[in-house]
Amino acid sequence: MNASPAQGVRLEVRGLTKSYNGRPVLRDLSFTVERGELFVIMGPSGSGKTVLLKHLIGLERPDAGEILLEGEPVGPPETLGRHRVAMVFQSGGLLNSLTVAENVGLYLSEHRLKPPAEIRRIVAEKLALLGLEGTEDRWPAELSGGMKKRVAIARALVVEPQLIFYDEPTSELDPLIAVTIGRELVRLNRQLGVTSVVVTHDRDLAFGIAHRIAVLHAGRFLALGTPAEVRAHADPVVRQFLHADFAFEPHPTPEPVSRLP
Ligand SMILES: Nc1ncnc2c1ncn2[C@@H]1O[C@H](COP(=O)(O)OP(=O)(O)O)[C@@H](O)[C@H]1O
Ligand SMILES: [Mg+2]
Repeated sequence: MNASPAQGVRLEVRGLTKSYNGRPVLRDLSFTVERGELFVIMGPSGSGKTVLLKHLIGLERPDAGEILLEGEPVGPPETLGRHRVAMVFQSGGLLNSLTVAENVGLYLSEHRLKPPAEIRRIVAEKLALLGLEGTEDRWPAELSGGMKKRVAIARALVVEPQLIFYDEPTSELDPLIAVTIGRELVRLNRQLGVTSVVVTHDRDLAFGIAHRIAVLHAGRFLALGTPAEVRAHADPVVRQFLHADFAFEPHPTPEPVSRLP
């Protein structure tokens, strides 16, 4: 690997279609993510977000449609071509038997892409980018949820990606930590110039960080535009998803205990 500084690549998806056992999950999705854009795909659980990401990184093959990076088709992960792509998985996927440094450097050491001293330097650099200086020798089990997520992001950065995919980066985090992770995604997007695609069901995250948002529902985009455009969208399902809250109806006041027999 000969990693030059990252520069965002353009992602184009045309007519992406996929069924499992005859059940459509992705229905003719087409969209473009521009170089350096932070694009959010927002949708409820089960809408097809993870399946879409698996196609975008070449882990799944579509029934129909094309995925292009700078105009070149994406193949299986080994043949992603000359573009560097990374994914931050929902679970983070840290190995508990490895230290933070070993986790972050794993891809480089396993594939013998760099000598050990160089890997140590790269790992330290990526950890520092996420505000995790000096955590090299710690174990995943000792870290908070927010720190684990940062380590997972640092690990994705070792390949100097030109395109980063994040699957539900704020799930399993409390709301305050979720906000700090959202800020990190925006900062990294700007600082590294990397194209970023975030899939999430977190409305606050989507509206807080996106250049553009696509609303995915049952494998289709119901809306696609800037946060302001999506917020103003008239589609009733979009509006329902944007405005759903806990205030369904008032709870009945319980009978006072003293009046019970
Ligand atoms: N390998 C698979 N085989 C069959 N069905 C699948 C497979 N992967 C995902 N699905 C189905 O596709 C739908 C979308 O799943 P997913 O993309 O994981 O949703 P989410 O938006 O929550 O990430 C779900 O109904 C799921 O059960
Ligand atoms: Mg998912």
